[in-house]
Amino acid sequence: MDKNLGRTEVLLNEKKLYKPSAKTLKHARVKQYKAVAVKAAKDPEGYWAKAAEELGWFKRWNTVLDASQAPFFKWFTGAECNIVHNALDRHMGTPVEKKTAIIWENDAGDRRKLSYAELNREVCRMANGLKNLKVRKGDRVAIYMQNTPEIAIAMLACAKIGAVHSVVYAGYSARALRERIDDQAAKVLITSDVGFRGGKVIDMKKVCDEAVQGSPSIQHMVIHRRGNMPVSMKMNRDTYWDALVESQPDRCETVPVEAEHPLFILYTSGTTAKPKGIVHVHGGYMVGINRTFEWIFDIRPDDIYWCTADPGWVTGHSYIVYAPLMAGITTLMFEGVPIYPQPDKIWKVVKKHKVNILYTAPTLIRTLIKFGDKWPKKHDLSSLRLLGSVGEPINPEAWRWYYNVIGKKRCPIVDTWWQTETGMIMITPVPAMPLKAGSATLPFPGVQAAVLDDNGSEVPPGKGGYLVIKNPWPAMLRTVFRNEKRYLSTYWEKFPGYYETGDLAHIDKDGYFWIQGRSDDVLSIAGHRIGSAEIESGLVSHPAVSEAGVIGKPHPIKGETAKAFVILKQGYTGSEQLVEQLKLHLRKEVGPVAVTDEIEFVDKLPKTRSGKIMRRVLKAWELGQDAGDTSALAD
Ligand code: PRX
Repeated sequence: MDKNLGRTEVLLNEKKLYKPSAKTLKHARVKQYKAVAVKAAKDPEGYWAKAAEELGWFKRWNTVLDASQAPFFKWFTGAECNIVHNALDRHMGTPVEKKTAIIWENDAGDRRKLSYAELNREVCRMANGLKNLKVRKGDRVAIYMQNTPEIAIAMLACAKIGAVHSVVYAGYSARALRERIDDQAAKVLITSDVGFRGGKVIDMKKVCDEAVQGSPSIQHMVIHRRGNMPVSMKMNRDTYWDALVESQPDRCETVPVEAEHPLFILYTSGTTAKPKGIVHVHGGYMVGINRTFEWIFDIRPDDIYWCTADPGWVTGHSYIVYAPLMAGITTLMFEGVPIYPQPDKIWKVVKKHKVNILYTAPTLIRTLIKFGDKWPKKHDLSSLRLLGSVGEPINPEAWRWYYNVIGKKRCPIVDTWWQTETGMIMITPVPAMPLKAGSATLPFPGVQAAVLDDNGSEVPPGKGGYLVIKNPWPAMLRTVFRNEKRYLSTYWEKFPGYYETGDLAHIDKDGYFWIQGRSDDVLSIAGHRIGSAEIESGLVSHPAVSEAGVIGKPHPIKGETAKAFVILKQGYTGSEQLVEQLKLHLRKEVGPVAVTDEIEFVDKLPKTRSGKIMRRVLKAWELGQDAGDTSALAD
């Protein structure tokens, strides 16, 4: 448990409390955190049932929580619902119908706005189109698109008819996409012809063609046309989005599904090369994200809310698409680079759309700091009321800059800790809470978290350990797709009865949580989660590489970067050229998301007797730290 001690020591010095303003307190949805949390802890089922009652259901539940097959927990059993009923249908015929649901903007400043009624119409047409392609309840639909209204429309259309969507981040390669499509046996792939980023055009269709070549499951590909170049279309398989929805009716019945019916599968990195298909369901998920969104961001009906994540990650699923739409507010989708063409692009967008809530990642904050205060200072940011952070620990310096320079000491910062697996935010302030720079503060009401030592005992304040969740929560993952064994071994085996998060943390004497990073070989590069094993397997697939060990190194902007130690096959010698080749190869194999900043050629890697690379030892060597217990080392 000697990892990240540096951070712990630094953090223990962060004593200053940032108290909420009178204005924040006045409008806070949760004014008395403690009272609410204590009540929720006494009767979690009553608390979540009350949260569920705020949403629409086709049929009420018999049981709030069924723990009879734990840890395969079930929530709201006996109920029928559909998240789209809450995200769209419920707003029709109310004043929300005319409100802007989505504002979309790209790098070039192109802009679109869709009202709730327009969004509903597009979702219905696409849902009808999918039905025409014989997509049925329970079928999997893979989505490989950029941050455009169409990705939200595609997700909602699937959910509406009970199909299961699986979004693959558009920064993944054809091979990675293929692996995810195969694992879930997706029937349809929805994509676009091209994508745009930072002034570049990306040939998305080509990636998809390569990914589905010879696929046993894919029957159709739907292509949203964005460019004006000719696209090669495969007869009987490929269809343009426009053509598919052209003659479809504007209405489509939302299919009632059981509360436990799967809503989506989202692949995430773990400690092995094979990504895990995390399964989320309609009922509990909608309750969890609705309650957290409204309370943590203190949502008001006219809010313009901007989450800078990509819908390809869980943050985009929960808090760009579903929760904001359920709340009936305006969600901004920005398909661009927040610092392109100039470092104040982000502030221009905030000002132009009068954004009230900005939810972003520490890596972006650190990048913005680097460019200096002059960029935000050029713009009127007075519309901002609340700031959020997610994806990795936010260092106190970045927190203070965000608070002082961007929030002008007016805006509370909600540092929200959660994961793909948790579906919803788990440890976080509510705005009425006193904040500490760099702490995710306290578990959300209804959530119980703890920090354990290797023996599973809770550690005293200030001491680091493993972060666990002590009780089930409605938006929790239900399983790893078609791999119950992996669900059990990854999350429930190490500390029986507790959900193991894979993160390290400590709790201070006020009970505040300080997240320190991962305890396993999962990296968080610029807020993107990627496994060491995934990068290693990408490297080893190059003809020159015999073995590779990948570790994360602290990085001032990205939080972490990957460094690879590579053993070459006989007959190959390391050179600058080969480094570049390997980097290119990784891009192709795993995708631009797996950037490896450093590659070093070595003769040997530290291994256990059973031949497993000891990344912990590699990391200690690299960082000049004590490698700890090395008795397992083979040599
Ligand atoms: O290590 C934690 C880090 O991101 C991991 C989850 O990554 P992912 O499933 O991709 O979801 C990211 C967005 C929810 C966690 O195990 N993490 C996430 N939020 C925070 C964080 N670390 C510290 N502070 C946070 N606020």
